Amino acid sequence: MLVLVTGATGFLGRQVVRELQERHHTVRCLVHTPGGERIFPGRTTDIYPDIYYGNVTDTEALAEAANGVEIVIHLVAIIRQRRRATFESINHLGAANVVAAAKQTGVKHFVHVSANGVTNDPQFRYLHSKWQGEQEVINSGLPYTILRPTLMFGPGDEFLNTLAGLARIFPLMPVVGPGRNRYQPIAVEDAARCVALSVDRQDLKGKTLDIGGPDQLSYNEIVSLVARTLGKRRWRLHVPVWLMHLATIALQSLQPRPAVTVDQLRMLGIRNVGEPGIVEQTFGFTPRTVEGNIDFIRSVTAADGWKIAMGIMPTRIRDH
Ligand SMILES: NC(=O)c1ccc[n+]([C@@H]2O[C@H](COP(=O)([O-])OP(=O)(O)OC[C@H]3O[C@@H](n4cnc5c(N)ncnc54)[C@H](OP(=O)(O)O)[C@@H]3O)[C@@H](O)[C@H]2O)c1
Repeated sequence: MLVLVTGATGFLGRQVVRELQERHHTVRCLVHTPGGERIFPGRTTDIYPDIYYGNVTDTEALAEAANGVEIVIHLVAIIRQRRRATFESINHLGAANVVAAAKQTGVKHFVHVSANGVTNDPQFRYLHSKWQGEQEVINSGLPYTILRPTLMFGPGDEFLNTLAGLARIFPLMPVVGPGRNRYQPIAVEDAARCVALSVDRQDLKGKTLDIGGPDQLSYNEIVSLVARTLGKRRWRLHVPVWLMHLATIALQSLQPRPAVTVDQLRMLGIRNVGEPGIVEQTFGFTPRTVEGNIDFIRSVTAADGWKIAMGIMPTRIRDH
């Protein structure tokens, strides 16, 4: 079956492409930044995906990319706004554009990756735009499956690598508020497997599923786990929410890519957990734990830590 993957070069997308190819699907990728396709192996072989360039704001490019496609997997979203790339234009209207292109070509299944915690409350700007994107899919009349991953971890992730960078350079780890909020991280490879398995599942049409890993960990526990994996002992510095908020506003106006944005700071206060066991029950495999599967953070150096603290994410750590 010919499957179009949008956001194919991203953190999740590249794993989804690999999982689809392992299941013998023919993959077409929508690539935003030309050259991004170089991350796919096997350039001169039959398995190399079909590459189409385009932006989710460009309806013509989307119509071309969707032509003849049976399945669409829509992964594109941004978590930081930049100039014209706003949450509204990419996460909401971009999803609407991809849905329209899919309808035009008559796709049989639209698999949409949303996010755990989506809300119709506009004060959470990213999560609200993701909710709006979902509504476009639900109201499209297309057969759809929506997957809402919790926080994803894996080589190149932003969350654990940022914490690792800070743990490398600071003796104290800043924690917003009491740090008791809970998360249920899922390995990016496991999330990708769920996405690829959904493609052929007729029984999942019309369903929305939260997908998460086996652990429910507080922010404090995640910070301790990161420090332990690096072989460090780190005390936590609990910073009042209002003070962190002010500091983040200041950093956001000074740095190109602050370690955290105000919107992300707000999201840290939202429970990021799903129903335990949903991946086993629905997809028949056990997702991996966080402990024992985050050795990739050991490659974060003190120099990387300083860059991250100064608002520059090294592409060596996050190349998507
Ligand atoms: N990462 C997480 O922890 C997490 C958790 C829950 C849900 N999710 C959801 O999972 C999905 C994938 O996230 P991710 O972490 O893989 O994101 P990512 O690494 O930032 O990848 C985003 C992908 O979208 C592409 N893209 C960005 N703007 C585009 C545009 N205007 N037109 C076309 N393509 C564009 C990017 O290409 P360029 O790099 O070339 O711009 C990249 O391939 C998203 O829907 C996200 O909301 C992620």
